[in-house]
Amino acid sequence: MATAVYAGTFDPVTFGHLDIIGRSAQVFERLIVATTHSHSKNPLFSLEERVDLLRRSVAGMPGEIEVRSFSGLLVDFARTVDASVLVRGLRAAGDFDYEFQMAMMNRALAPEIETSFFVTNPRYMFVSSSLIREIAAAGGPLDEFVTPLVRDAIISRLG
Ligand code: COA
Repeated sequence: MATAVYAGTFDPVTFGHLDIIGRSAQVFERLIVATTHSHSKNPLFSLEERVDLLRRSVAGMPGEIEVRSFSGLLVDFARTVDASVLVRGLRAAGDFDYEFQMAMMNRALAPEIETSFFVTNPRYMFVSSSLIREIAAAGGPLDEFVTPLVRDAIISRLG
């Protein structure tokens, strides 16, 4: 039984992410959902806001789930929380090259930590946080992709 870390930018957390969280929390003894600064992505929500939205989104989900933020390398964070697995979600073939590169690099940095891929629920295959932000900015419907909590946070942020 292992501790796993599911890391991402989660700007914002979507039903696709929550699907991966729910399923991986059934497989691993303890799941740590972790988010980080991601300066290159220039997030809509601050790190503290993303942690808060994640915490409120996973509250009540079955399994031992914690939400944390980290800075620096993901594998260093994983070591500090005694995690032996990094969880990633795979949507379509397009994700594979990026995910494969990241998994190989993480393995080079920390050979004792495995990457485990969860194939996405087909309902969320086309969902991404940037598309959600784009739909929200154009006033489009969000209810199929994010929780009401996240929907309201995006709408109020975009004014
Ligand atoms: N359902 C819906 N959307 C999903 C998804 C799923 N199952 N899985 C991924 N996505 C989307 C995300 O919404 C995101 O969309 P966006 O690009 O439009 O914002 C995109 O796919 C990928 O994002 P995410 O899974 O959050 O990964 P990331 O690339 O933003 O974050 C980190 C990757 C944070 C894990 C990585 O940058 C990291 O490890 N950083 C720490 C520094 C480090 O260790 N670097 C070396 C890495 S080898």
